[in-house]
Amino acid sequence: MKSIKLASGYEMPVLGIGTWELTGEKCKKAVTTALKLGYTHIDTADYYHNHKEIGEVIKNFDRKKLFITTKVQGSDLDYDSVLKECNKALRELKTDYIDLYLIHWPNLSIPLEETLKALKKLVDDKKVRSIGISNFTIKRMKEAIKKSKLPISVNQVEYHPYLNQEELLNSCKENKVVLTAYSPLARGDILDDKLLKEIAKKYNKTVSQVVLRWLVQKGTIVIPKASSETHIKENMDIFSWKISGKDMEKINSIRKKERIVDLEFVNFDD
Ligand SMILES: NC(=O)c1ccc[n+]([C@@H]2O[C@H](COP(=O)([O-])OP(=O)(O)OC[C@H]3O[C@@H](n4cnc5c(N)ncnc54)[C@H](OP(=O)(O)O)[C@@H]3O)[C@@H](O)[C@H]2O)c1
Repeated sequence: MKSIKLASGYEMPVLGIGTWELTGEKCKKAVTTALKLGYTHIDTADYYHNHKEIGEVIKNFDRKKLFITTKVQGSDLDYDSVLKECNKALRELKTDYIDLYLIHWPNLSIPLEETLKALKKLVDDKKVRSIGISNFTIKRMKEAIKKSKLPISVNQVEYHPYLNQEELLNSCKENKVVLTAYSPLARGDILDDKLLKEIAKKYNKTVSQVVLRWLVQKGTIVIPKASSETHIKENMDIFSWKISGKDMEKINSIRKKERIVDLEFVNFDD
């Protein structure tokens, strides 16, 4: 599996399985299928309520070969809560470290320094390997970079052809922050796009594969959520072929601004 080196020094697999709305047996089945097929990266969060299921699955695989991202909720960003929530995640995931621990969304009522201090303590205690943020705008990301004693390795944000956040991606690159594209398939909204369908036909691929390949070629990590084996498998075929520069530009020029994930507690204009 192709990976990207993070500012922390650790390698992060470019493709991961998203797990939002996957709980219970459905979650176990999807994650087991993905790992058996060769995925090595799982994206979860305290908010998804599926740590226990994922813990049940990963205990059957070689932990050293896996990359687990989880997130602490924006409501739990005071120093003690971050430590408590991380310990809970470790227990539930049945693991002794988290590869990447993200602040799920910013909370302006808790000083960022306090949260970052707690994340550093978790890294010092070897409970977390790399730290990062999610749903942070350029301004908030720069603030986090400035205030953190450790590198901010990742910013996980919504990114797909209908929300092509190039300015944010460029700012991430300038600051050595890797961007993880969440909802990379716009939860299915891009599947019927005329231009994407034409490009997919040209490369003899599906629209999902074209979109994931476009993202990977732009330098992002992708974490499509899929529950069916067909989709999980299909989303892996994004590495052995390329989209031409001209077709990349065509996709870049889709000028739709469609945010799928509306987090009422985040101001994306700030
Ligand atoms: N940090 C954050 O605030 C945040 C917010 C949202 C999401 N995320 C993360 O990002 C992950 C992915 O985002 P998402 O779940 O919102 O949406 P998504 O990955 O854009 O779309 C998921 C949908 O696409 C379908 N799908 C997957 N592969 C397909 C394929 N090859 N062909 C056709 N349909 C396909 C899935 O169907 P099936 O399930 O039927 O296969 C599912 O309905 C989440 O699961 C979560 O881990 C993070």
